[in-house]
Amino acid sequence: MKLSYLSIIIGLAVQSALAVPKQVKPRRTSSILINPDAQPDLPSPQAARLSAVSPANAGLNLNDIQGDILIGMKKKKELFFFFGIKDAATFKSKLASDIKSLVTTTNQLLSVSTQPITAVNIAFSQTGLNALSVTDSLGESLFAAGQFADRTALGDVTSNWVPEFSGTNVHGVILLASDTDDNIQSELANIKNILGSSITEISRLSGASRPGDQEGHEHFGYMDGISQPAVQGFTQNVLPGQALVSPGEILVGTTGDSGTRPTWAAGGSFLAFRKMQQKVPEFNKYVIDHALSVPGLNQQENTDLFGARVIGRWKSGAPVDLSPLRDDPVLAADPNRNNNFTFDHPDVPGFNLANNQTDCPFSAHIRKTHPRKDLGSEATLHHIMRAGIPYGPEVTDSEHASNKSSTDPSLERGLAFVAYQSSIQNGFHFMQQTWVNNANFIFGKPTPPGVDPIIGRVSSTTPMDTPRIISGTNPLNGAQTFSLDVEFVINHGGEYFFSPPISALSGRLAA
Ligand code: HEM
Repeated sequence: MKLSYLSIIIGLAVQSALAVPKQVKPRRTSSILINPDAQPDLPSPQAARLSAVSPANAGLNLNDIQGDILIGMKKKKELFFFFGIKDAATFKSKLASDIKSLVTTTNQLLSVSTQPITAVNIAFSQTGLNALSVTDSLGESLFAAGQFADRTALGDVTSNWVPEFSGTNVHGVILLASDTDDNIQSELANIKNILGSSITEISRLSGASRPGDQEGHEHFGYMDGISQPAVQGFTQNVLPGQALVSPGEILVGTTGDSGTRPTWAAGGSFLAFRKMQQKVPEFNKYVIDHALSVPGLNQQENTDLFGARVIGRWKSGAPVDLSPLRDDPVLAADPNRNNNFTFDHPDVPGFNLANNQTDCPFSAHIRKTHPRKDLGSEATLHHIMRAGIPYGPEVTDSEHASNKSSTDPSLERGLAFVAYQSSIQNGFHFMQQTWVNNANFIFGKPTPPGVDPIIGRVSSTTPMDTPRIISGTNPLNGAQTFSLDVEFVINHGGEYFFSPPISALSGRLAA
């Protein structure tokens, strides 16, 4: 009698111990996100809440907006899982019943205490929406046609596109972000288990912030993710020099979006994904070979100056417009100063914005993609929220020694480029086609600036688009041209997706 009483107690104790993990969700003690000094901080949950409810900002619902859209280039690790839909009925039902609750909101990411172990977002291509019989027009023809149809306008060569993106087979992408690969793999296994044979994997790409002191830097070595637009209704502390945009420039159906969208799409955003390989040893060699000869600088400083003028920022992230001759890591680490420039210098007697590029070349990557005062005003409607992440390993010793990227696919490295915007036409597509690839932009200069030295393309028919001519990189002689005989970035294609508001996952998309 006594024994069976004891065994009941032990039994109950074991049962309740086993039940604990099911009831208590594991909580994080460290963040999913990196936060290098140079990048703008995310708002605190309280600040974001205050900002979102301000009447002027039309009340963004940060619990309904997917987490990746507004947080920028801050993930420690991220996996892009591209899939096709095989069984729409099952997919819809699982989307509503199980996947929706896994999808991470903007609010959740703002504090470590509310971050999940692995953040999950999901986005669909037009063919994905078609597969779900969601035929409402989202008011964006580039999205409707898919990125493959846009490739020539973007300057891409079809033969550089990888098979998985060549066409319209990708129906959607699941984005998984965490601080360890194990976390990501276990969440992916969970999702695959839920969705079963209703989806099929098309491909995956694994990204990670770079190791050690390179955290936050892209593979050429330059700090990234510094200049992002401040979004009304989300960002409370607009940093000096930061472009302030209405939410409708990034999120469809919110204040400032002039497109015609279905009601269910409000708070969603178009996601332009690009797999961009970076030829790092080749870039490094080009920079060394083209070291400048500015008096007072040593060989290394003249080399670094050339690279900095190609990008428009030093490797630390300090802008050449504010620190034109030498890197300034203290300036770089100060978000109140590191983006506070316009390319104009009215305090300098005789400085003429129209033709003076002694501080920052007109052809620099950050000037081609964000011309600031060159266009007179910030109100250009051509802003994007960049949310990409580096992929691939560090340069090996043998690649470094040979100045050549390995052809081993497992050593390929680059940027898993992600841009969010409410209009691809005004955002990524416009930037690439009208600014980056246009050798005459910034217009009206004495010497055409040339295409963007790292991502600009002149021809969409030759696989190796060289030579491309750029100017302005020598501060002593702005008319001097450089012939780029190597392509440092190869576009392997991508897709246009729509990242819907979370409510749509059990609403319109599941109906
Ligand atoms: C492998 C490809 C690329 C690399 C290595 C790269 C690298 C960088 C770096 C180092 C910065 C400076 C950091 C910052 O200001 O946040 C930057 C800024 C920027 N990039 Fe890129 N980028 C790439 C592709 C692109 C593409 C495809 C676009 C759009 C067409 C783009 C648009 C921008 C914009 C808008 C900025 C901010 C400019 C500013 O506001 O001053 N980038 N990029």
